[in-house]
Amino acid sequence: MELIVSIIIAYLLGSISFSYVVAWQIKKIDIREHGSGNAGATNILRVLGKGPAILVLSLDILKGVVSVWIARGIEYWDVLPTWTTVGEIEGIAPALAGLAAILGHNWPIYFRFKGGKGVATAIGVVGSLVFFPAVYIGIIAILSIFITRYVSLGSLIFAAGTPIILMVTNQHYDHPSPYIYLTTLLGVISVWKHRENIKRLLNGTENKIGEKKA
Ligand code: G3P
Repeated sequence: MELIVSIIIAYLLGSISFSYVVAWQIKKIDIREHGSGNAGATNILRVLGKGPAILVLSLDILKGVVSVWIARGIEYWDVLPTWTTVGEIEGIAPALAGLAAILGHNWPIYFRFKGGKGVATAIGVVGSLVFFPAVYIGIIAILSIFITRYVSLGSLIFAAGTPIILMVTNQHYDHPSPYIYLTTLLGVISVWKHRENIKRLLNGTENKIGEKKA
């Protein structure tokens, strides 16, 4: 039951599409009908500029962080009556809450299930679950964006690289197994969500930061 409550809270939180809200507040537009059509910080940067993009990125990361910490709080403080507690597997509640937040971001219940690609929220989730590995892969992803100016490439490096870095650092950190499964699933979801970006990256037509055209 605690697990289910954490998952529901995280999904509802993840479903708050900050890119939609910010674009609507600033310009009365549905961000999903502009630029790349993605409800995410990169598209906000493209359509509305740096300030709104930083705001959306921060809020999307934050909802991932908060979802994981709410799950940890429910688990730690035993908020619900003990008879509701299910069998414990280390790390299962924060991992599933993190997944639920990302699923909410990608398929938001409040916005006809049309959301973003989940990478900003995944940064918040993965950063909260495994801080140092997230920093390592984050640095590689940011460098790749600076060098190529392809945000999608950096997003893919972060999402697909996280399970790899967890496996590589596992001996040192002994990550709970749900974290490895979660990040592997996130990598798969992210690659699938970026399938159009991947096609454009391969044929050289992907949008670069700073370019106006979607
Ligand atoms: O995380 C989203 C980013 O990787 C790509 O966004 O709008 O260029 O499809 P977009």
